[in-house]
Amino acid sequence: MQENIAGVMDGVIAGKPLAYARVRSCALLGLEPHLVTIEVSCTRGPPLFRMVGLPEAPVREARVRIASALAGIGVLLDEYAITVNLAPADVPKPGAMFDLALALGVLGAVGRFAAHQLADVLVLGELSLDGSLQPVRGVLPQLRGLLGGALRGAIVPTANAIEAGLLRSGRVLHGGSLAEVVQHLRGEQALPEVMPTPFAPNASSHAVDDLRHVRGQARPRRALEIAAAGNHNLLFMGPPGGGKTLLARLLPTILPPLSFEEAVEATAIHSVAGVLRNEKGIVDSRPFRAPHHSISEAGLVGGGSRPRPGEVSLAHYGVLFMDEFAEFRRSALEALRQPLEDGVVCIARARTHATFPARPLVVAAMNACPCGYRSHPRQRCRCSPHQVARYHQKLSGPLLDRLDVHVRVLPVEVRALSAAADGESSASVRARVIAARERQHARYVSRATRHRTNAELSLDELDDVAPLEREARRWLEQTAADLGWSARAWVKILRVARTIADIEGSPRLGLRHVEEASLGRLLDSGRLSAAAFEMPDAQSRDG
Ligand SMILES: Nc1ncnc2c1ncn2[C@@H]1O[C@H](COP(=O)(O)OP(=O)(O)OP(=O)(O)O)[C@@H](O)[C@H]1O
Ligand SMILES: [Mg+2]
Repeated sequence: MQENIAGVMDGVIAGKPLAYARVRSCALLGLEPHLVTIEVSCTRGPPLFRMVGLPEAPVREARVRIASALAGIGVLLDEYAITVNLAPADVPKPGAMFDLALALGVLGAVGRFAAHQLADVLVLGELSLDGSLQPVRGVLPQLRGLLGGALRGAIVPTANAIEAGLLRSGRVLHGGSLAEVVQHLRGEQALPEVMPTPFAPNASSHAVDDLRHVRGQARPRRALEIAAAGNHNLLFMGPPGGGKTLLARLLPTILPPLSFEEAVEATAIHSVAGVLRNEKGIVDSRPFRAPHHSISEAGLVGGGSRPRPGEVSLAHYGVLFMDEFAEFRRSALEALRQPLEDGVVCIARARTHATFPARPLVVAAMNACPCGYRSHPRQRCRCSPHQVARYHQKLSGPLLDRLDVHVRVLPVEVRALSAAADGESSASVRARVIAARERQHARYVSRATRHRTNAELSLDELDDVAPLEREARRWLEQTAADLGWSARAWVKILRVARTIADIEGSPRLGLRHVEEASLGRLLDSGRLSAAAFEMPDAQSRDG
């Protein structure tokens, strides 16, 4: 395939531009794609590779990879003086995803193919030294954001084809190497088109067990169901061995399957983070993320000089399980407050800012004190008041306020432990959760809000969608005044009450709905004894 490019360009006066080519690529800031135009001009003359337009270190290193890959198809970079301009200059250009576009720009400029073919094609891909195309991060959000407008198609690495196949529009081709792409552009061998990736939600890829095997624990089970039905954040608190971790890990078994739109969004986030390494190439079940409590603030909510999504975004549309909640760093917990309120993470940097969606269902689990036995009905807690106060200090009121449902998980009664397991199955609870979510969906679609679940409702919207029966309003007003609830607490209780009524199929909120929604707060305030909080186990069983 060796060809004398200098020969092709015979007759061009040294020092004058040989030719010029323009290729389209993309810089991704957060999930937001920015079209980047790569202009390449070549002159014959002393070897030079000059790049302008705010390229960052990995892009500057592209020269080495491009030179090697081009040598593989017989083009020697050192025979030219090459100037590359990346426009617009004010968009930071991180990553090695411009390799293929840069190499094609050079080849187009030196006349290896008719460069005008690439005028409206998005080109993505990193090159290996041998010219093979490596996958890049964030292919899906780049295609989704840019195809359809000025761009009619795209060329992506074959390793990104499954992910790209989630996009059901535009003409996307994939190639395995620079040579294959060049053959396509020379009209010798067409590149294959990306096929639509089949989507079937996988219900329980993270589930290892079934709710059926949990003994007793009627109240925590009910809380799990309410949390799943309305996407409410949940806090389990109680002594060791009560089953907090076990219950939290079972949450995915009662969540509704991931919809196609949710899968696209989740896949886009995982792709940008570079964690889409499963053999399926897409996210097809609700994410379940359980970061260790030693995680940094940036790891939890996202960050870095080139902003990457954190665990809270990787768990978007799924579950963020924070076991040993009180052990997390204070800075990490505080950083969680904003995304839990807004459903997005905003990361500001000197030259740029990135936003990532972050609407997971957060399940936090913790003991009530350092020794763990503070709320134990029979065992004695050995912690001093000072130790307990220090333990709770990390969890500020505003953070706890953001966990809609607070539940005590007390030790399982011996009677329930030694009896045969006869709890309701995950499938049966899940059917109620799905029905409750469908009621919410129907309500919010008809009102054309952007919400999907009750957990996102504002006070104004609650006035509209959660009409209170007179008795319920009177009780709620009295209790809120007595206990000094904040406006946020009031809103959270109405949201949870709306979900409890949705599980039942009741359009209005009655006294029993608001009372059940307030249980955790009544218990926290000492208004309710732990014994009164317990619920007869029989209520949670099948039939
Ligand atoms: N209600 C239950 N039904 C069946 N098994 C249970 C139950 N509760 C606990 N177990 C068993 O006990 C083990 C320990 O429970 P788990 O780890 O969930 O407790 P925990 O409340 O998270 O404790 P810690 O506070 O120490 O983290 C579980 O793996 C499970 O085998
Ligand atoms: Mg645990």
